[in-house]
Amino acid sequence: MTLSSRRDGVGNDDDLATSVFSKDIEGVLIDGPQIQARLRELAAEITADYAGEQLLLVGVLKGAFMVMADLARHLDLPVEVDFMAVSSYGSSTKTSGVVRILKDLEREIADRHVLVVEDIVDSGLTLKYLLRNLADRGPRSLEVLALLAKPGSARPELRVRYQGFEVPNVFVVGYGLDYAERYRNLDCIATLEPAVYAD
Ligand code: IMP
Repeated sequence: MTLSSRRDGVGNDDDLATSVFSKDIEGVLIDGPQIQARLRELAAEITADYAGEQLLLVGVLKGAFMVMADLARHLDLPVEVDFMAVSSYGSSTKTSGVVRILKDLEREIADRHVLVVEDIVDSGLTLKYLLRNLADRGPRSLEVLALLAKPGSARPELRVRYQGFEVPNVFVVGYGLDYAERYRNLDCIATLEPAVYAD
């Protein structure tokens, strides 16, 4: 089956179909323009919600680097940005919930409005750890934006206030998300051919 026939109805496939990634991509779940349109909607909500306030965006590396860059450009607010890097122990496609901070924030967040920007909430264990850790630092407010969520991850204690899309319970790559550090630079969210995992 050709790439474009597998991906009917998902918008403009031409660039990806001819790209170096084409043989690895099984299908596109969310294309680039859909992501940008949803980020503009979320940014409008955030702009209204934080009107008159200073907002600190905390991106969770590495996966959130693209959503941070695009979201920040759509916000009509004075924002500062900072990043944390965490590693979750587990297999290459599942986290175990044991999280280690590899890079912490550069500044204190006490009394600041903080919006954590995540790529995807799967089990929610990484986010749960991060929220507990950041809440202990006394921010004035602490909210979460996650571009993607998998079914079942919307537990109330996770408080994902701004959610981009729900994706099915499959491993996805692109737009910041990787498999073995690859595919982060795709502008869409895609699934991989099973053969990629067998390599
Ligand atoms: P959680 O702790 O299970 O919610 O997983 C959180 C982290 O695992 C995310 O921030 C991603 O970096 C990674 N992750 C979870 N699901 C996927 C996926 O489908 N593709 C790529 N990375 C994922």
